[in-house]
Amino acid sequence: MAAKRENWGSHIGFVFAAAGSAIGLGNIWKFPYLAGKNGGAAFILIYLISVFFIGLSLMIAEILIGRKSQLNPVGTYRTLSGGNRKWTFVGYLGVFTGFIILSYYNVVAGWSVGYFIEGLRGRIVSFTSSKQATTFFNQCVMNPAWIIGYQAIFSLFTMAVVYFGVIQGIEKISKILMPIFIAILLALVIWGISLEGSEEGLSFLLKPKWSNVSGRTILEALGQAFFSLSIGMGALLTYGSYLGPKNSILKSSLMIVILDTLVALLAGIAIFTSVFAMGFSPDAGTGLVFSVLPAVFSKMPGGNIVALLFFAFLTIASLTSAISLLEVITAYFVDEKKYSRHKVVVIAGLIVFLVGIPSALSFGSLSHVTLLKRSIFDFFDFISSNVLLPIGGLFMALFVGWVVKKTPMLEEFRKGAQGWVDAHVIYGKKRKEKQAILTLGNVWFFVVKYIAPVIILLVFLYSIGIL
Ligand code: PFF
Repeated sequence: MAAKRENWGSHIGFVFAAAGSAIGLGNIWKFPYLAGKNGGAAFILIYLISVFFIGLSLMIAEILIGRKSQLNPVGTYRTLSGGNRKWTFVGYLGVFTGFIILSYYNVVAGWSVGYFIEGLRGRIVSFTSSKQATTFFNQCVMNPAWIIGYQAIFSLFTMAVVYFGVIQGIEKISKILMPIFIAILLALVIWGISLEGSEEGLSFLLKPKWSNVSGRTILEALGQAFFSLSIGMGALLTYGSYLGPKNSILKSSLMIVILDTLVALLAGIAIFTSVFAMGFSPDAGTGLVFSVLPAVFSKMPGGNIVALLFFAFLTIASLTSAISLLEVITAYFVDEKKYSRHKVVVIAGLIVFLVGIPSALSFGSLSHVTLLKRSIFDFFDFISSNVLLPIGGLFMALFVGWVVKKTPMLEEFRKGAQGWVDAHVIYGKKRKEKQAILTLGNVWFFVVKYIAPVIILLVFLYSIGIL
């Protein structure tokens, strides 16, 4: 089976595709609004600690078990556990989580498509005040035809790509897209910093106010690390299953984590310099970015072009993430149930779209419906990022550390690592190089086996008030 599986064209192709999964609405839409809601710098610091101390190690673990099994999440847990049903369940949990996330992800990505079209009609660059921009956003999302229509269009885009097979398509799109997207973000950062009053935004991002930090904040920062890095549900596991043995997973993961974090921080700077300079409130919630940016574009020379480019790229960045979510579901049914890819994509895509409709309507006609004191949309978002993904990550860490065991995992870790460590750590000396890889492997394994599970558990207990 392994020999027949489609493979990435190149190492850098895999990195770009995995970074394409990681970089999306999580960085541009969610990270700024969560940081704004949770008081800025302190949240960002906890987020960065979560990303580099836990996220990176779990990302390596996830890609690694995918490459080892060359299967979808369910098949991976089943095979590597020797057919244990309890562990196989973790794979199912991942597929279920993919369903839930994609259902509301399509809704927000639909806003991006919608804003692109509104941009073509010149309607998102004519605001003279922050209030006008906010009112416009509210009118759009409360209109059922607007919000469901664009949700449907975006769902169709995603289904089309996965329908025709992902590997080469994603690799190509992501390679071209990523550098241009980072360039646009940089332009927005420079513009944001040049605005009068932007210093307040910078200080919001840089000076932590610890008094605002609660158990909830820490859970949200950890959950956001999982969401943004695409870990905990098997998306990167599935991508890892298309990876050959010559590539260093350590090197790939480092690159993905750095790129993802860079984009989130650039988005944060662009948004918060503008938020404060233009009199928005940082804790505006889900609509923050979609209200602030049009107000910024309205003041920029050539703002309409920048707006069009921005929303086009945001749509494509969301697409490369949504594809990875749908691919998890598809790979499961294709590998395990032997359904045809085409059939799975059409049926699963349609169900995901229907499940997402209540989330879409929760901004308008269903706004009075609440679950655990949250709107339907916020409930789905909260449950998936802050409960399902961390639980998936916790089980994965326990699985790698305690079930699969050290020797096979470290062997997999070492595959493809040699040349890279050689060049970067201790040039030339083969024995020392081997030693360095062993040490890095041991540190990684220790974090996965002991530190990550303990921290995830502690954060859970703290956030529900047990500690
Ligand atoms: N990482 C994506 C983002 O930041 O937009 C969202 C996502 C994709 C989450 C894939 C989880 C996943 F498996």
